[in-house]
Amino acid sequence: MAKITASVFTSHVPAIGAAIDLGKTTEPYWQPVFKGYEVSKQWMTDNQPDVIILVFNDHATAFSLDMIPTFAIGTAESYQPADEGWGPRPVPVVQGHPELAAHIAQSVIQQDFDLTIVNKMDVDHGLTVPLSLMCGQPQAWPCPVIPFAVNVVQYPVPSGQRCFNLGKAIRKAVESFDKDLKVQIWGTGGMSHQLQGPRAGLINQAFDNAFLDQLIADPAAAAAIPHIDFVREAGSEGIELVMWLIARGAMDDVPADASQNIAAQEHPVSLKHRFYHVPASNTAVGHLILENT
Ligand code: DHB
Ligand code: FE
Repeated sequence: MAKITASVFTSHVPAIGAAIDLGKTTEPYWQPVFKGYEVSKQWMTDNQPDVIILVFNDHATAFSLDMIPTFAIGTAESYQPADEGWGPRPVPVVQGHPELAAHIAQSVIQQDFDLTIVNKMDVDHGLTVPLSLMCGQPQAWPCPVIPFAVNVVQYPVPSGQRCFNLGKAIRKAVESFDKDLKVQIWGTGGMSHQLQGPRAGLINQAFDNAFLDQLIADPAAAAAIPHIDFVREAGSEGIELVMWLIARGAMDDVPADASQNIAAQEHPVSLKHRFYHVPASNTAVGHLILENT
């Protein structure tokens, strides 16, 4: 059977991708950011998954106001890095896992979550920057990736609670796939940032660190945060943090339904890495690695 082995949480700031691609990672501004991911790159080497389910948001690159799927799963063989206006990033093509993706679509839709099936999609910094942070600059990404896109750009956006419950459904889907695969699930985006309006530049370190604490130790409480609180406290783009709740909901210590609290003690998760840094472009960078024990 397939199994979720770990979850990774990370910001996806586009300027981080540019810093990597232009060889600026050792510059004084960027050095502390990349230092925080040295442990992570080693951890990736030591804990190679067979597949990554990468929960991310598209930034009006693959989708537009013409079509706004709330949740979309990539079932394609491969995904090209997108051109976001400066040419496509010089990173490997992302290979998909159509078989597992189709199985997840079947299972999760039957568990009453409406997913859009995407057979062709270019992937922007929301997906490629987390891969670069965790894997460096390889010739090919270390394993197939299933892109799982969430609309956090155009209102209405899904609630944190719905995202958390979706994570539980994804775990059930993975565990019913009859091949022995080690699957990681990554929740990306965030942390606090606001890119427009009078509050542009907003960063809230107290909120971000409290969110990290809660995501680790009391994810059900983090899932109960109303979307308006993310916007008020973490800025309009801080709403990207609901995507972290999908990955967290898929971990073993989260009971499939709230009446089964005993599961949390039976299946504790292990915190392998925690990192927080301000600033990176207009954003606070947050990062966690959690393993199922
Ligand atoms: C920035 C952050 C983002 O999440 C994004 O999608 C675009 C820009 C920034 O900090 O500049
Ligand atoms: Fe973003």
